[in-house]
Amino acid sequence: MEKKENIILTGDRPTGKLHLGHFTGSLRRRVELQNSGRFDGINILIADDQALTDNAKNPQKIRDNMIEVALDYLSVGIDPDISTICVQSQIPALHAMTFYFMNMVTTERLSRNPTIKNEITLRGFDKPGSEGIPAGFFTYPVSQTADITAFKANCVPVGEDQEPMIEQAREIVRRFNMTYGEVLVEPEIMLPDNRAAMRLPGIDGKAKMSKSLGNAIYLADDKETLEKKVKSMYTDPKHLRKDDPGHLEGNCVFTYLDAFATDDDFMDFWPDYQNLDELKDHYTRGGLGDMDCKKFLIKVLNRVLDPVRERRHEWEKRIPDVYDILKEGTQKAVSITNDTLHQMQEKMRINYFDDDSIINDWESFIAR
Ligand code: TRP
Repeated sequence: MEKKENIILTGDRPTGKLHLGHFTGSLRRRVELQNSGRFDGINILIADDQALTDNAKNPQKIRDNMIEVALDYLSVGIDPDISTICVQSQIPALHAMTFYFMNMVTTERLSRNPTIKNEITLRGFDKPGSEGIPAGFFTYPVSQTADITAFKANCVPVGEDQEPMIEQAREIVRRFNMTYGEVLVEPEIMLPDNRAAMRLPGIDGKAKMSKSLGNAIYLADDKETLEKKVKSMYTDPKHLRKDDPGHLEGNCVFTYLDAFATDDDFMDFWPDYQNLDELKDHYTRGGLGDMDCKKFLIKVLNRVLDPVRERRHEWEKRIPDVYDILKEGTQKAVSITNDTLHQMQEKMRINYFDDDSIINDWESFIAR
């Protein structure tokens, strides 16, 4: 049997700068996977078309964030010599595939997608007085299926919220292959490991770090901004005096330490404790101030972000190169995805102009 290739496809909507939530949720993981050498192809898609599905009136916002997101990728350590960074809207096969996939799914099935349901409410599309749900938004899981399958990706490293999208993609692939013949690869989700699986809260303690809530720490934040944000972080409102016992639940400082602090960080920055468990013990016993913990967190985060800042600083001087990386990555993606589209059209027997066999087909058709 032919050896199956091991291919990754993942992506982001370019609607804002990437923040620490993206870092723990996906970026850190991508760099590890990239550097593992286990993959034959790694593709990272800037999903600007998907971003348009709920930003149709504001394409400028997406344009503004195109280079920004590319810079975020490069500064966390995505290596364009290994990973292909590409721009969704400039890859025509994705649009054609989406159109065929629309026939492989029902509107009833689409309306059961829990992530979409949730997002419809979040965006107020179901509020009285709203214009309603844009069809492009409603069907973006179908377009996302095209993103994944066009690259024949078998592995999609994303967060839990994307699980319904991958399940939808698997169903469409199965149906397509059954209807027209085996050609597409059924993708599998690769969920983050324990440490990353937790969703990073905002610095205000709200469940999700997000640009719209104004509670994010950006990868591009400088040291002063980071320090200010950490110092203002939500901790334990009942921990009024240092000697009071502190609570860990909902305490952002500890959630962030869970996500980032290593035993080495303790050795280097706070040798009074060997590890986070010891620190937590002291905090819950009482006698440990929030500000001390915050100062430690600042050091921990700077250790993570310093190399990111350094790389960003270098890439910012080379924006024309960043542009070329996007352009060349996209060209490569166009060629890969055109191949897949062509194989699909062959299976569907709508590849009319590959040869002129349709002429003979017609002759035997009328002779029947
Ligand atoms: N829906 C993803 C998000 O909002 C972005 C995305 C678009 C994506 N196409 C993809 C993720 C394909 C994985 C695979 O984060």
